[in-house]
Amino acid sequence: MIVLGPGTIDNVGSELAELGATRVYLVTGPSLASGRVGARVRRAFGGLLVGTYARSRPHVPSETMDEVVREARSLRADVLVGLGGGSPIGTAKAAAFRLQQLGGSGPPVPCIVAAIPTTYSGSEVTPVFGTTDLERHRKSVLRSDLVRPRLALYDPELALDTPPDLSASTGVNALAHCVEALYAKDAGDDERTMALRAAGRIVEFLPRTVRDPRNLLNRYRMFEGSMEAGLVLAKAGMGVHHGLCHVLGGRYNAPHGVLNGIVLPHAMRFNIPIATTAYRDLAPILGVKGEGLGDAALGEEVCKATATFVRGLGLPRRLRDLGIPRGDLPSVAEEAMESKSVRANPRPVTRADALRILEAAW
Ligand SMILES: [Fe+2]
Repeated sequence: MIVLGPGTIDNVGSELAELGATRVYLVTGPSLASGRVGARVRRAFGGLLVGTYARSRPHVPSETMDEVVREARSLRADVLVGLGGGSPIGTAKAAAFRLQQLGGSGPPVPCIVAAIPTTYSGSEVTPVFGTTDLERHRKSVLRSDLVRPRLALYDPELALDTPPDLSASTGVNALAHCVEALYAKDAGDDERTMALRAAGRIVEFLPRTVRDPRNLLNRYRMFEGSMEAGLVLAKAGMGVHHGLCHVLGGRYNAPHGVLNGIVLPHAMRFNIPIATTAYRDLAPILGVKGEGLGDAALGEEVCKATATFVRGLGLPRRLRDLGIPRGDLPSVAEEAMESKSVRANPRPVTRADALRILEAAW
């Protein structure tokens, strides 16, 4: 179930009751938990709330997931609600998955996930989640329909406090979901139409949101875009762009959206030979005039326009800006060869190709 609109948080209790949830365990990060968004959400849950986990962290370290599992079990929660960005929502999904694996031993097992996003990661509508082994610096990404949130509630009022840089990076993540869906092998016409509509929303409203973060209409339009971007990601899957970002995120604990902004134009450039239609469709959205240009030249212009769009949002532009050593790139490329997303890329990716993309992004 998807709910979108200002003030919808006030009805979250009845939405959850419809799903049969009676004991809510809220999973979020420290700043949301202690601020007015957390207070408003807790108030909306009323008597359904049995506890709050306020220590979610980027890339979902497995220790964090284990803590949520332990506490949710001891509180006999029957729904885990992720509030915030991809990390708390991903933590709720990972913990729910683990609880289902543990099965029937012990107290009742929560099997419902609900999500209340305040960023544009799209995690609230996908079956995708990741956990990170901090000792080995490895992120594993899984899919399971068991943990796709049964309720995704978008209340733009809750996003008004989301900082501009976080809006920018997660908005670029949503744009990357659209781009990868446009050339994914599994995408049909419906997904492509939705991906283009979402990309249009994001390109129009993300810069406005960054400039004017407390504008409710901007926040509403961005949720429309990020929701559809998430829905197409759930259907069409990911490619080399996300594969590389997942490896880099697990290794260097860099924010997923920031990595997206750096890597996207370069991953797109690699895919020019197989993305002719995708880039012709994207061109007008990004303000590129395609008449008279051959496929390769048009593809190049679309990649440049994507880089310009990211730059306009004030995001970091190079991997070196994040302190990632150039000497590590060959082993990043090596690890990327094991990524399902890299293997699913419509243009086959060799280790040398992955290294070239990474070097260009460095
Ligand atoms: Fe993503």
